[in-house]
Amino acid sequence: MPGRPAPSRRTVLRSAALTPVAGLGLAACSPGEDGAAPARPTGPVDLGADGEVATGAAKLYRDANVVVSRAEDGSLKAFSTVCTHARCPINKLEGTKLVCPCHGSEFDARTGEVLHAPASVPLMELSVEVKRGRIIASPDI
Ligand code: FES
Repeated sequence: MPGRPAPSRRTVLRSAALTPVAGLGLAACSPGEDGAAPARPTGPVDLGADGEVATGAAKLYRDANVVVSRAEDGSLKAFSTVCTHARCPINKLEGTKLVCPCHGSEFDARTGEVLHAPASVPLMELSVEVKRGRIIASPDI
């Protein structure tokens, strides 16, 4: 018979064993499922322009896991938006209420207090200041 010899059964099985199977081990995991917790700010974070947070309102900075609110007197407060229940990143802000997507805990974005269980511990407060028109939050409060 001309040409290459047919591969043995062992050769075929070895090749199959080295071929990656799409999807295995690469599936996206929601935080908490893979043990990797979302990052809380570990140093000063430039969130954006001071004017982005209106008086009496709050703004969620998803990428930084921070929420900033502005009181009627113009003062700012900032909290980590890593949920205190099982450390999911909170991705929803309704007015001044933060809603965790994992188990439905709710927090007041102005105080960090728990509004709805299962979380029982308030959000971690961050220090916040305005420098050159930019909102800077950091964990060293
Ligand atoms: Fe937020 Fe469970 S991790 S409610």
